[in-house]
This record gives sequence, structure tokens and C-alpha cells, in this order.
Amino acid sequence: MKTYLVTGGAGFIGSNFVKYMLRQHENIRIVVLDALTYAGYLGTIDADIDNDRCTFVRGDICDRELVDSLFAQYRFDVVVNFAAESHVDRSIENPQLFLQTNILGTQNLLDCARRAWVNGKDAQGYPTWQDGVRYHQVSTDEVYGSLGPTGFFTEDTPLQPHSPYSASKTSADLVVMAYRDTYHMPVSITRCSNNYGPYHFPEKLIPLMINNVLEGKKLPVYGQGTNVRDWLYVEDHCKAIDLVVNEAADGSIYNVGGHNERQNIEIVRIIIRTIRRLMEERPEFRALLKRQDKDADGQIDISWINDDLITYVKDRLGHDQRYGIDPSRIKADLGWYPETTFEVGIEKTILWNLEHRDWVQAVSGSDYQTYYERMYAGR
Ligand code: NAD
Ligand code: DAU
Repeated sequence: MKTYLVTGGAGFIGSNFVKYMLRQHENIRIVVLDALTYAGYLGTIDADIDNDRCTFVRGDICDRELVDSLFAQYRFDVVVNFAAESHVDRSIENPQLFLQTNILGTQNLLDCARRAWVNGKDAQGYPTWQDGVRYHQVSTDEVYGSLGPTGFFTEDTPLQPHSPYSASKTSADLVVMAYRDTYHMPVSITRCSNNYGPYHFPEKLIPLMINNVLEGKKLPVYGQGTNVRDWLYVEDHCKAIDLVVNEAADGSIYNVGGHNERQNIEIVRIIIRTIRRLMEERPEFRALLKRQDKDADGQIDISWINDDLITYVKDRLGHDQRYGIDPSRIKADLGWYPETTFEVGIEKTILWNLEHRDWVQAVSGSDYQTYYERMYAGR
């Protein structure tokens, strides 16, 4: 039986990963370590915590004493590090927190794993490692910087991050590879494109737009809305990580993404159209709208759910123009491909948001409202 330390497992992708792994593998045990920052919510995974196959510990990945004690208690075989400050806009406001968590937190995990997993030295003085152990770093395509209108990021694309967030994630990747080169540590890295799906924190583009429609608010599109992101349904990302952790060679780096590039404005228009269609097909969803004005037939009016909701606002500083992943390596080596088409994934995501208003309300309390007002008021 393998024991996993999953950091950041109460956040968006980490929680989806915990659920995916518990579904896919009978014979594993997961310990979730999460600081429960504004982005982490225990309610997301509380149904998964049974203190047998899945245990939760609240704590900081930068806390050496705590992480050492968890290694001693649980004897982890695998670490999958999702824990991070993840929002580019917040990194523009407060870069230091991003460097602290994303770089030093990663380094602390690597060091704790090294102390626990090294079992000797080889003839050249390199550490030798317990069998079957692996440190996996969940990274991002943003480490490669921004593309022009053509071409894709491959694993050999030079690292050229622009935002404080992506600079911190790039630094973390470099530290991981330094542990590989210096200590022969068994590590792997995945660099994924933009995820979407259930439990996505409402500050990010897709959930923000869905929630703003329901709230009857304007839809703030940065700049001209022509920036391009390569969207991947979160479960496909989880599957890729599982494959890389369990099947890829030590020292591997894999890009994860699915040739699903869309301009932001296209995403926003799809969300508007899909919500309106779902409200037509299932009128009971109209009760979720904040605007309860009635139409001529006495039904809750939805005619205002249209492109007039879109408002173009001041652009993000240093806004990367385009991301696009070339997933050839992971496809060739591990047979991974994105199974969920965007048409299916976005409808599932919108339906999930309609059917989980309690979750959305629980994570978007007064702290989030304050953030939203500060971030969007001046735009
Ligand atoms: P998220 O912000 O939803 O979740 C981050 C989680 O980490 C939260 O639960 C938070 O409480 C926890 N956390 C933050 N600081 C911590 C600390 N010091 N100690 C312990 N826990 C801490 O992020 P996400 O979107 O789920 O992203 C997860 C990982 O995947 C990140 O490393 C991110 O860089 C990477 N990534 C995200 C995307 C995406 O589209 N969201 C794409 C590629 C890679
Ligand atoms: O590419 C992977 C990255 O994707 C991850 O590493 C990050 O953790 C994750 O947050 C995400 O970063 P982005 O900056 O691409 O995601 P975000 O949802 O913040 O924005 C997507 C695009 O939409 C981006 O071009 C900015 C734009 N945008 C975003 C918001 C929140 C808007 O136009 N309006 C908005 O209100």
C-alpha cells in the first residue's frame, strides 16, 4: 500500500485529485496537508476524510517541524505538491507571499522528503533513496512565458516567466531539478495549462463569469478579451498526474494540455449562451438568479442574459497573450490524452455551479467580497 502526502488538497485541483485517486486506487492512503488559506476549504473534502484511507492535517508546507513529523508518522512513499498561491492577479498585489509559499514551501518539502527517504550513499557520494519513493511537483505552463500567434510550448521551450506567480513557479521547478541533479532525488514535474471544473475558486475566469451572471453583475473582461488560454477539464489533469507519478521515469518533465485554445471573450460568450440555454431547458434554475423580474408570461425573465453583460476593463499588468501546450510527449510515453471535450466539460462545470450554490456561498464570504471590490472597483 502506498501512502501519499497531498499538499494543497483542499484547493481546486488538489481536492479533485484526492477524490480521483480514492476512486481509482483501492490500495492507497492519502494524507492531505493544507493551510486552508482563502483558497482552501475543508468542506470540499470532508466527505472523503475517513481517517483510514484519507486523513487531513491543517498546516503550512513551509513548517519544517510539522512536515518532518508527518514523514515520521506516516512514512510517505509519494509527495504530490499542489500547495501554492495560485492567482496571478493576487501575485501582482503581493509578490512576496508567492515567493515564500511557492519557492520556499517547495524547498522545505524537498528537504523533509530527503531527510526521510535517503538510505545511504553510492560510490560517488550521491545519496541513495528508498525504493519506490517519488516527489512530484505540480507546475504550470506559465513557466514558459507567452506565445505569439503560432507555435506551442514543448518541454524544451526556454523558461521565461513574466508574472510574480509564474516566476515563483519557475523557481520552484528549478529547485526541484536542482535536487534531482545534486542529490539524484526521484522527482517528476507536470506543467499543465488552465484547468476548469468543480470546486474552482470563484476568483478565476470561468467560475467568476458563471457566478456574476447568476448575481446579475457585469462580466469584466480584461483588455480586448483576445488573450488565449488552453483549457483542460480538471479530471484529465488528475489522470495525467497519476500516470506521471506512477509510470514515468524519475526526473521526467511532462506538459499537460489538450489543444483547446480559446480567446477569453469566446469563453465568456459560451458561458452566457450555455447558462441561458440551461435556464430555458430547466426553468427551476431561474430561482437561482438574483434578478427576479418577471417577463410577459409571468416567468422569471432571462432575456437580459446576453452579451450586453460583458464589460471590457483595464488589462492585467504584464498579461501573457497566449498559452498553448504541445502534449506529444505525455501522449507518446504514457498514452495520456484529454478525455473531456470542452463542450461537455463546460456544460458539466456550469451545471455543477448551479447545483452547488452552498459551496460557492461558503467560499465567497466577506473576504472574497472585499477582494472583488478592491480588484475590480478601479478597473
Ligand atoms: P488553489 O489556489 O485552488 O489551491 C491551493 C491550495 O493550497 C489551497 O487549498 C490552499 O489552502 C493551499 N495552500 C496555499 N498555501 C499553502 C501553504 N503554505 N501550505 C499548505 N497549503 C497551502 O490552486 P489550484 O488552482 O488548485 O492549483 C493547484 C496547483 O496547481 C498550484 O501549484 C498551481 O500552481 C498549479 N496549477 C494550477 C492550474 C490552474 O489552472 N488552476 C494550472 C496548472 C497548474
Ligand atoms: O495556465 C495555467 C494557469 O492558469 C495556472 O498556473 C494558474 O494557477 C491559474 O490561475 C491560471 O492562470 P490564468 O491567469 O490564466 O487564469 P485566470 O482564470 O486568472 O485568467 C484566465 C484569463 O482570463 C486571463 O487571460 C485573464 C482573463 N481574466 C481573468 C479574470 C479573473 C479576465 O479577462 N477577467 C477576469 O475577471
